[in-house]
Amino acid sequence: MIGIPRDQWYVAAYSSEIGQELFSRTICSEPILFWRTRSGQVTAVSDRCVHRRFPLSQSPSRLVDDQVVCGYHGFTYGPDGKCTAVPGQTRIPRTARLQPYPLVEQDSLVWVFIGDPAKADAASIPRAPYLDSPGYTTVAGMEPLKARFSLLVDNLLDLSHETYLHGGYIGTPEVAATPITTEVDEDAGVVHVSRHMDDAECPPFYAKSTGLQGRISRWQDIEYTPPCLYKLHSRIAPVGSVPNPDGSDPDAFHVEVVYAITPETEHSTHDFWAVARDFALDDQEVSDFLAENNRTVVLQDVTALEILERVVATEPEGYQELSINIDTGGLAARRMLKRIGAQQQSVPARS
Ligand code: FES
Ligand SMILES: [Fe+2]
Repeated sequence: MIGIPRDQWYVAAYSSEIGQELFSRTICSEPILFWRTRSGQVTAVSDRCVHRRFPLSQSPSRLVDDQVVCGYHGFTYGPDGKCTAVPGQTRIPRTARLQPYPLVEQDSLVWVFIGDPAKADAASIPRAPYLDSPGYTTVAGMEPLKARFSLLVDNLLDLSHETYLHGGYIGTPEVAATPITTEVDEDAGVVHVSRHMDDAECPPFYAKSTGLQGRISRWQDIEYTPPCLYKLHSRIAPVGSVPNPDGSDPDAFHVEVVYAITPETEHSTHDFWAVARDFALDDQEVSDFLAENNRTVVLQDVTALEILERVVATEPEGYQELSINIDTGGLAARRMLKRIGAQQQSVPARS
């Protein structure tokens, strides 16, 4: 069983979700309150009043000039979580402070550090620059998933399921039929899984968005940085086309499919997904098509994984799965997650 790794950075939200109003999301079983101050900073503090635990995100709690006022008895806090006023007395108890969370906003994502704040190193956050780059257009969403995060990791590391679960969208026979290569970069903490299909059917997801007809060359190169960030570098091109030696690749269409896999609780997950493309940048129809199609695909996974969660949650500990070649990426990811969990303080998962 893989517990939720602590002392880790997790995506808590898209930047666009957090404005100058109270916003709450539970990350790794910790309810966190966010808002954007008038100077534009995103703040993250515990969403529980230190007095009687009333959630500060709940009405009638409210934001007044960058201070949050508890809707129960009026304890008031600044963006750093420090209590600035209590009712009925001028002395503010020394311990009256909402726990602040280390926070970094980059690549259109809001990252928070869960665990010991002294271990929060912003430089270790994996990057996804295409989500916020001029050469790309991105569509994105987040689906709530009532399944443990490790089931989503398994799902994303083994794309052979596209053929069966996502037929008619992104699945074609060649995905399941083509072997993968798996490489683990222990130093960088990255699992790479590649599947290069050199003569494959073009699924509707790519046919309609790129306009390519007939057979295609389709490359899937996965880069997973446990626990949270998953990137699928997808290359779609006419059969026979390969990138130039200098790395330029003018005949190909590139789609960066990014997932942030953020545990909400031990048995539920925030399934953030984004699709960034380097073509048809201003074409709203393509954007709408990719957004709707990818959401459908994500929901197909959500349905399957919620079934699986119910199965896993009720079976005895130690059930033996059978793994084959397609599972090497998922198994490598599990090993890395277990190692992270063993090295660091970890909340054990209960089933
Ligand atoms: S619970 Fe917040 S002021 Fe009492
Ligand atoms: Fe899927």
